[in-house]
Amino acid sequence: MQTLHRIDEVRAQVRAWKAAGLRVAFVPTMGNLHAGHIRLVTTAREHADKVVTSIFVNPTQFGPNEDFDAYPRTLADDQAKLAAAGNDLVFAPSVAEMYPEPGLTTVDVAELGDYLCGASRPGHFRGVSTVVSKLFHIVEADVACFGEKDYQQLAIIRRMVRDLCFGVSIIGVPTERESDGLALSSRNGYLSAAERAVAPQIYAHLCAARNALISGETDFAGLSAQLATSLETHGFQVDYLEIMDAERLRPATPANEKLVVAVAARLGKTRLIDNISVAIV
Ligand code: PAJ
Repeated sequence: MQTLHRIDEVRAQVRAWKAAGLRVAFVPTMGNLHAGHIRLVTTAREHADKVVTSIFVNPTQFGPNEDFDAYPRTLADDQAKLAAAGNDLVFAPSVAEMYPEPGLTTVDVAELGDYLCGASRPGHFRGVSTVVSKLFHIVEADVACFGEKDYQQLAIIRRMVRDLCFGVSIIGVPTERESDGLALSSRNGYLSAAERAVAPQIYAHLCAARNALISGETDFAGLSAQLATSLETHGFQVDYLEIMDAERLRPATPANEKLVVAVAARLGKTRLIDNISVAIV
């Protein structure tokens, strides 16, 4: 497995593979890899001959009071995990390589970013869609894998690819969880032992929401308020707990058949997100 730090080197390698008739898959990450990221890599492997994973903690998607400086940087460990998973190329650029000067051009996907994390993290999705479009132009892959754990991010990237005619197919990969239901996240490492013990309540509350919806509950505002209050009694500060139309990411109506329940909540200083999809039949 090779690791490259420069854009021109990555482009040359990917173009050489494609000239040889090989299919290339891409997994963008911010590193500090866990089994959720690795599941993206193994999924990518199934769809292509060569897998490229990027590791870049992207400053433009962090707000001024967020954890950009504290975000764990663990390149050597990440390289070992990626090599074991059959990854072929790591692209690990510096901030100066990706942003040699402040960019004047950004990518904004309207509407899909209005609610949920878009409301509580202003500018976050502009940072994500802009850096992912830069990475897509650098890597020029046939397919790219994203986790359903970041449901809104996946929806925004799918729409960006459609709207702007990127030649890459997007594959959504199911959320990898601990045995107690907690979604794997690089931020789980910030949790104290006591916080880690209550963190699975997030998924437990999502499952309760799904059961209520499948049983015919249509008072979405009432149900989400009740579950948010319950999470608060467990010690969470809830940013949002919303029942949305899974496709448009607008508040759900009883006419919607595909719903997603999405939650963001803080435990101490750690912000955790999760979601569950619900099909109403
Ligand atoms: P990061 O948080 O490192 O996540 C990289 C990819 O791993 C994303 O597609 C995310 O949805 C996926 N992922 C994270 N936890 C997962 C889990 N438990 N199960 C399955 N997949 C999981 O998301 C980002 O980085 C950045 O915003 C990025 C897209 C790289 C742009 O900077």
